[in-house]
Amino acid sequence: MKRVISILAGAAMLTGASYAVAELADGYKAVEPTSEDSPLTEVISGYEFRIKSTQETQDDDFENPGMLLLDQAADQWSVAEGSAEKSCADCHGDDPLEAMQGVGSTYPKFTEKGDHRAFRNIENQINHCRTERMGAKAWKYDKPDLLGMTVLVRHADRGEPVNVVVDGDAEALFERGKEMYYTRYGQLDMSCAHCHEDNYGNYIRADHLSQGQTNGFPTYRMKWQGVGSTHRRFKGCMKNIRAEPFKVGEDDFLALELYTSWRGNGLPIETPAVRN
Ligand code: HEC
Ligand code: HEC
Repeated sequence: MKRVISILAGAAMLTGASYAVAELADGYKAVEPTSEDSPLTEVISGYEFRIKSTQETQDDDFENPGMLLLDQAADQWSVAEGSAEKSCADCHGDDPLEAMQGVGSTYPKFTEKGDHRAFRNIENQINHCRTERMGAKAWKYDKPDLLGMTVLVRHADRGEPVNVVVDGDAEALFERGKEMYYTRYGQLDMSCAHCHEDNYGNYIRADHLSQGQTNGFPTYRMKWQGVGSTHRRFKGCMKNIRAEPFKVGEDDFLALELYTSWRGNGLPIETPAVRN
């Protein structure tokens, strides 16, 4: 992986950060971009940038702390709730991992028909089923119920390639997400691309910068001591550059989620991934 290192003058001044090149381990996995428009020459999961012990924790389902939420969600699947007194299982079938095959790898996207049609990520789709189909309360963003069910839906596609569609109806959101990705935000005046496109593979302080891919989300993070959503991670990155983050679950981050997912089209889903 040979690349010119760009020095991020603004950030280096404010944070004292310096960038050092580090090689990825031999035999790291990468996939070819699925689109000619991709700015990346190779698409690499965040997994490859983590140290061996972190990778091993992810690889072992018994060690991976994210799997606990999955188990809870699998139980929740058949619990009837709301005014309709229905469970997920009543409409989608008894085996959640079977029912949700082919779903998680395609989100975010436009779902449903007629009045219900909207652009949703998995979290929002689950809550849509709860409020509109079950007559139950929406689950809170980034709390265990919603995180767990989102992990379950994504996990049903573990190993499947990320495959989001960005043309047709989704094009406007895709363009919006793309613009955000290259916009400088915050006191450090940096864009996502500064770190995750121009400097992946380099170190920023103690962090080995990845391409900022989303194929492992919701992800267990040691720093969080728990599982968090894609939008929580976006929020954290925006805070790190001292920018006012957008709201989780809402349009700006949905657009960014679509765009970042597209950058990772072809990468295998790892949910629940483990990161530091
Ligand atoms: C100052 C550098 C910096 C900027 C700017 C930045 N990030 Fe990050 N980001 C990081 C670091 C450091 C990590 C943790 C190590 C890694 O995976 O790169 C990270 C991790 C991530 C991850 C998790 C990757 C994984 O495999 O778990 C995503 C997704 C992400 N960033 C998205 C974004 C988005 C979207 C933006 C723009 C809103 C952004 N980042 C801006 C530094 C940055
Ligand atoms: C009363 C029936 C009903 C219940 C209960 C229900 N759903 Fe749904 N769900 C639907 C319908 C109908 C669709 C739309 C299917 C379509 O678009 O073809 C849907 C779609 C979905 C999708 C998107 C599937 C796709 O292919 O994109 C997910 C994810 C989902 N539901 C999860 C859940 C979860 C999790 C629960 C329980 C918390 C739940 N649903 C409860 C009826 C229900």
